[in-house]
Amino acid sequence: MSDLPSRMPARLAPERMAALLREMPKAELHIHIEGSLEPELIFRLAARNGVPLPHPSVEALRAAYAFTDLQSFLDLYYAGAGVLRREEDFFDMAWAYFERAAADNIVHAEVFFDPQTHTARGVPTGTVVTGLEHACRRAHAEFGISSRLILCFLRHLSEEEAFAALEQALPHRSHFVGVGLDSSERGHPPEKFARVFARCRELGLRVVAHAGEEGPAAYIEGALDVLRAERIDHGVRCVESPELVRRLAATRTPLTVCPLSNVRLRVFRDLAAHNLPALLDAGLCVTVNSDDPAYFGGYVNDNFVQTFAALPGLGPAHAYVLARNSFEASFAPAADKQRWIAALDQTFARYAA
Ligand code: HPA
Ligand code: ZN
Repeated sequence: MSDLPSRMPARLAPERMAALLREMPKAELHIHIEGSLEPELIFRLAARNGVPLPHPSVEALRAAYAFTDLQSFLDLYYAGAGVLRREEDFFDMAWAYFERAAADNIVHAEVFFDPQTHTARGVPTGTVVTGLEHACRRAHAEFGISSRLILCFLRHLSEEEAFAALEQALPHRSHFVGVGLDSSERGHPPEKFARVFARCRELGLRVVAHAGEEGPAAYIEGALDVLRAERIDHGVRCVESPELVRRLAATRTPLTVCPLSNVRLRVFRDLAAHNLPALLDAGLCVTVNSDDPAYFGGYVNDNFVQTFAALPGLGPAHAYVLARNSFEASFAPAADKQRWIAALDQTFARYAA
């Protein structure tokens, strides 16, 4: 593997490997902020806002998190977001995420939000963005975490509705760096959103898109060719097209992979069956992320630690490459990336001693 620092541990005992994974500085590039809403906070916000909940307790709600596919998750995820009504609700949700991020040594986070989920029940986009942005500013002040917001369009809705969401968000343009595409993938190819993404590019927005999670490799090609996505969220089904894998490697197009999500949504049988090692071996710019940590059983460090424990072929060099990729793949300024990579090198040097 290229770009390894001069002082690197060759191999580590499992507990020491887990400690390194936890301690290494990292960026998270695939986190839906509504997917960080823990059941306890859902109940607290429901009480605060007088919103009735179908589940009688936190335990009953958590027990309902037994998903069979992406749609079965999305149904609960949209229902959970129904407790978010006021600016402080969005602040509290994002602040809880940043506290977890700080504990996981995340130094930079690019955070997805779904405005259409909220405008559908009468919550203005400004309420969403202002609450989230306040948490981003406080995370920088208190934890030194830098962050960006990325507005995601819901692909099960129409392109016309995506245009309306963009219009409503434009007064807050300075608070988000880019746009993405999420929700139900199958039957909703990237081509459906060609015109709205063209408009977003004209506006100078960065472009990412979910593709190749449940959908085929052709959806990844559509995201690249039609939406001009700079990163692919998930993308694990790229391996179904060797030509596409070669293209992603040659262009260093990042894939934001989410192992625990993939297992919970049955994209892979278990972590031991995940194709992360194959993606790394193919030289792809892969990163590890949590997706919807409150629903999928873990935050970013849980994803790293559990994935490395399940795949014994993965060691310190892979950990280094994954963390370094997370910085390279981010939309942060070059000077910040250099600073984070220097800190990463120092962490690995300490483990080499
Ligand atoms: N896939 C698609 N849409 C989503 C996801 C996901 O993993 N999480 C939240 N919205
Ligand atoms: Zn996602």
